[in-house]
Amino acid sequence: MTRHFLRDDDVTPAEQAQVLALAAELKKDPTGHKPLAGPRAIGLIFDKNSTRTRFSFEVGIAQLGGHAVAVDGATTQMGRDETLADTGRVLSRFVDAVVWRTFGQDRLDDLAEFATVPVVNALSDSFHPCQVLADLLTITEHKGAPAGLTMTYLGDTANNMAHSLALGGVMAGMHVRLSGPDGFDPDPQVLADVQRQAAATGGSLAVIDDPVAAATGADVLVTDTWVSMGQEGDGLDRVGPFRPYQINSALLGHAADDAIVLHCLPAHRGEEITDEVIDGPASVVFDEAENRLHAQKALLAWLLEQA
Ligand code: CP
Ligand code: NVA
Repeated sequence: MTRHFLRDDDVTPAEQAQVLALAAELKKDPTGHKPLAGPRAIGLIFDKNSTRTRFSFEVGIAQLGGHAVAVDGATTQMGRDETLADTGRVLSRFVDAVVWRTFGQDRLDDLAEFATVPVVNALSDSFHPCQVLADLLTITEHKGAPAGLTMTYLGDTANNMAHSLALGGVMAGMHVRLSGPDGFDPDPQVLADVQRQAAATGGSLAVIDDPVAAATGADVLVTDTWVSMGQEGDGLDRVGPFRPYQINSALLGHAADDAIVLHCLPAHRGEEITDEVIDGPASVVFDEAENRLHAQKALLAWLLEQA
């Protein structure tokens, strides 16, 4: 049975822990493991911009002994409406996994239905699960095991990072708080899935309107852009209502004394986070960016072992 990684909960909590443990091992010995030697090829398709995801996957695949075929989706026949079913069947004849950054989650589901190799979500409108593996690795490095820690996400609680942090966070046993303005609410179906996972792991989820209450005592503060890719022209005010949710020194002052601050990047300095915080001692955002490499290498190695 081909395993895909389209959402954080496409692995079990135990499997998530295995991937994170492998990531920590690979970080210590980046070129010592070559499970893609051959080379086995991995397809990387981008329908949206990327810096970290593209570089980390390409470099990681090379370090694992494999070969990455990285393309802009619009330049392939996908950009001329070849069906996802046919694309999935064809790509499976060439590559051992497909990593895809796209818009609707349904597109990933459709490709995965017809691919006979693992499909990995490199960010969709709904989830960014590779990022959250890197975030959990970063939290583990700086704070120890995530289980029992409180993580507060502030900002657009309707976006991909909010969904993936909630799902991936409770799967790791964290107490997750989501805090953002009215009208930018998380998908209720995702919240139900988060609650189900939390009940099994001892984690918890709370949606808290007041940013100060949400940040108080938190071990980890996280934010993300207020304008995700594809939302630029949606006509919503994506600045005014978000201002109280900015991570600045005052808000950070309410978190635990040794709290860390995460941001998946790219940051919009002066909007969701201030220079003072992102460049300050609590920020671990560049470790977090580096950890994309280690986490994704582990994920690919693990997925290919399941086949
Ligand atoms: N965090 C993240 O996914 O960055 P990119 O958009 O640069 O890939
Ligand atoms: N929520 C952001 C994440 C970027 C890595 C977006 O989708 O644009």
